[in-house]
Amino acid sequence: MPWDPDQYLRFKHERFAPFEDLLALLAVRPNLSVLDLGCGTGELTARLAAALPGSDVTGLDSSPAMLERARTLARAGLRFELGRVEEAAGRYDLVFSNAAIHWVEDHPALIPRLFALLNPGGQLLVQLPSNNEHPAHQAILEIAAREPFRTALGGFTRRPPVLRLPEYAELLHACGGMDLVVFEKVYPHLLPDSDAVAEWTSGTTLLPYFERLQPPDREAFLAAYRARLHEIWPEAPVFYGFRRILFSARKPSSITG
Ligand SMILES: C[S@@+](CC[C@H](N)C(=O)[O-])C[C@H]1O[C@@H](n2cnc3c(N)ncnc32)[C@H](O)[C@@H]1O
Repeated sequence: MPWDPDQYLRFKHERFAPFEDLLALLAVRPNLSVLDLGCGTGELTARLAAALPGSDVTGLDSSPAMLERARTLARAGLRFELGRVEEAAGRYDLVFSNAAIHWVEDHPALIPRLFALLNPGGQLLVQLPSNNEHPAHQAILEIAAREPFRTALGGFTRRPPVLRLPEYAELLHACGGMDLVVFEKVYPHLLPDSDAVAEWTSGTTLLPYFERLQPPDREAFLAAYRARLHEIWPEAPVFYGFRRILFSARKPSSITG
């Protein structure tokens, strides 16, 4: 996936609010081993590390471009590694992920796998977008189904593999998770106009479509998307309510009974 750190960071202010909500759920203890899955450009990994005194933090990401940016933040106790969430290994006191696991398929299999990465007493702390039903996201599917895009994309569309909220609670409970906190929240964003929504989406959700289109089709796809968004939001500024799921679970310190 051709992630572009500059495009992604254009909306960094909007993206930091859910991270702050996630940090509020963090059980702060000294000297933790921490894995940040899909760490991207690493700013939030560095903020996480700063919130955990004496921690040893590894940021993992599959994008060389995002990691190149992240590595400028590396220091003692904070490193960044190339790798896929699906292949994460080792044992950690905190497994953390902000806005990344919606890129990984099969959450009924993924959540237990992430939970298994925890040491006894460890915490799994995750935020992921759940905004798929929003008209701004549905518009992408509509345009991908139209010609000439349908043929150029070979019929490709992507529906993120995000489950319904209670299913995360059920999965976490089934793997033995304790102290569950599982909730969904709408983050309110006021953007200057509908083009700003297209700019935002160009840095994330549109990437798998852009990747499959040649430049002329890519530009035409973006133009069609902007036009559709303008129909959805003819007025400016634009209120963009963005749904996200946040969850936390702790692994028991020892097995009793
Ligand atoms: C939306 S960014 C979030 C970055 C960072 N966590 C933040 O909140 O700013 C999603 C990141 O997930 C990474 N990613 C997507 N699929 C991945 C996978 N299967 N394994 C590892 N990283 C992945 C992308 O490269 C990208 O950097």
